[in-house]
Amino acid sequence: MTDIVPTVEGLAFGGDYNPEQWPREVWDEDIALMREAGVNIVTVNVFSWAGVNPAADVWEFGTLDDIMDLLADGGVKADLATSTASPPPWFSQRHPDTLPVDPEGRRLNYGARAEYCPHAPAFQEAVVEMASKLAERYAGHPALAMWHIGNEYYRSCYCDHAAAAFRAWLRERHGDLDALNHAWGTTFWSQTFTDWEQVLPPRISAETPNPGHVLDFKRFSSDALLKLFRSEAEAVERHSPGVPITTNLMVTGDFSGIDYHKWGEHLNREDRLVATDHYLIPEGPIEAEAQVAFGADASRGLARGGPWLLMEQAANSSAWRGGYFAKKPGEQLRHSLSYVAHGSEGAMFFQWRASRYGAERWHSAMLPHGGPESKTFREVKTLGDWLGRLAEVKGSVVQSKAAILLDFESVWASATPGQPSGHMAPYPELRRWHAALWRRGVTCDLAGPAWDLSRYDVVFAPSLYLLDDDANLRRFVEGGGTLVVGPYSGIVDRNDHVHPGLPGALRELLGVRVEEFVPLREGQTVALDDGTEGHAWSEIVRAEDAEAVVGYTDYPGGPAIFRRSLGEGLVWYLSTRPTDLNPLFDRLDLHGEFPGLPEGVETVRRTHEDGRTYLFAINHTERPSLIPIKGTDLLTGASWTPRTHLHANSAAVIRETQ
Ligand code: GAL
Repeated sequence: MTDIVPTVEGLAFGGDYNPEQWPREVWDEDIALMREAGVNIVTVNVFSWAGVNPAADVWEFGTLDDIMDLLADGGVKADLATSTASPPPWFSQRHPDTLPVDPEGRRLNYGARAEYCPHAPAFQEAVVEMASKLAERYAGHPALAMWHIGNEYYRSCYCDHAAAAFRAWLRERHGDLDALNHAWGTTFWSQTFTDWEQVLPPRISAETPNPGHVLDFKRFSSDALLKLFRSEAEAVERHSPGVPITTNLMVTGDFSGIDYHKWGEHLNREDRLVATDHYLIPEGPIEAEAQVAFGADASRGLARGGPWLLMEQAANSSAWRGGYFAKKPGEQLRHSLSYVAHGSEGAMFFQWRASRYGAERWHSAMLPHGGPESKTFREVKTLGDWLGRLAEVKGSVVQSKAAILLDFESVWASATPGQPSGHMAPYPELRRWHAALWRRGVTCDLAGPAWDLSRYDVVFAPSLYLLDDDANLRRFVEGGGTLVVGPYSGIVDRNDHVHPGLPGALRELLGVRVEEFVPLREGQTVALDDGTEGHAWSEIVRAEDAEAVVGYTDYPGGPAIFRRSLGEGLVWYLSTRPTDLNPLFDRLDLHGEFPGLPEGVETVRRTHEDGRTYLFAINHTERPSLIPIKGTDLLTGASWTPRTHLHANSAAVIRETQ
């Protein structure tokens, strides 16, 4: 965990800056407009490999020198990227074995970006060389504020390099072939390996692949990217010690290719910073504001409540999200402030100036094609002004008392082939719970099931398919916490072997015994005897050492929702997915700090170590609302009383009077 002080004053505000796409005279206009907007940091050199290293052993730093000097002279800091996310054609042509291979054995060609195999030795060497050269040259440059390794790591590969690296990783994890055969359950369908050379990545096969194999390959692929990140980060640290290092993750609610909890261990420490990109999903049941809160709370979780940074968002539309999604007036401002409310140390964008060419020429930018006389740029300037006024908020943290458990291995395991239902994917369910809590005004972290949970009063595990044992959750409950567990949780161990006796690892803790699953069809619901209903899933389930609180009215009959006191705490089990979560939250007496506030009026508090508190109040609705506290609104400087109205579609950040 790190603070980007003193290299950036106040909160970070800026975006990706790609001046190499523009003639020199535009650069001067850029700096002038950045200053006008209050931009204090930009991410440069993300996709400039071809410029810096245009041929083997040829290094040309002139353009980057000019960019860094221009920024230093203009008083704008640089988040300097290592440019390794997009090897240029000369590199791929020289090292064809670095081009990635898909599960069907097709080698992808160059022509876009991220065309690399993370396991190819030539690529691994090249990125360390690139990171070292850049760090050597720019360590100590007055513009340098932070190092930005790669870009949105996600690539996986199924080539022969991948096969060799996978075998080495498996030997490390499992030891010998017998252990691997056991872990993958290879006696099923006669898949027993007798020689390590027989073990391959899960390339396309004739029928349903082995789920243990698929799961280990996910772990391996995530670890390989982490190794790549670490190799660059360590090279940078050798030559440019003491400068914060980050990379832009995608902790947003719809990407689960990486085990971010493992990555968090390497980002959440001295001189490193958790950063994420977030592009909202314009369609679906969860509105944009709740999506913002989910991405932010997941990032804060990864930073274990400490500082993190929103590295990229769209100033207006993200054309590639499918369909044109234009932000309404004020929307970008409310969203940006919401990220800061939830703990981000700033608000950054992709990108500063809209590109005239290339795949993302229609992706929105802080400075759109329409120029500075535009709604988007006017709002960018307002945001710059707001963030400038919020400098004193920096370093304060959000202290949530509730958490939702997110586990990437569990997400992967529940997506392996051959599941009993196609409607039990964890991510949409976690987002649904989070959105319901957000609408109620309850701020919550996304936390890992193995983390120390003692800071929370209530922990929700709506969907936790893979769980080795109940020890950590039991500790939380016995220590006085309330745990709420959703169906199809605790079912398999780390190898995706079904625990004997359902619900597996959680059976004793929950005090229930599941006889059988009764999955529901798309759109089908099941009535409960408190007047509510469940969907997606139901169970024939019996209480063993728990109290049945709600029952099924229809088939499968019998109890549906259970409660059990244990130690100082309580544990609940839901054997179906409640369609409306509010009755459950009512039973738990769970409310936000201001229960009278309408849905869509968001309040989040950030607290400094010295006790200063800031209430962010963001009105995402069309009606004014009262926020019953006293203090000063930092955005306007005006005093705030319990009778002050928060206008429709607006925000206030109130330094509270103690
Ligand atoms: C991010 C990526 C950026 C840019 C942006 C907008 O995922 O890091 O380079 O592509 O999306 O699409």
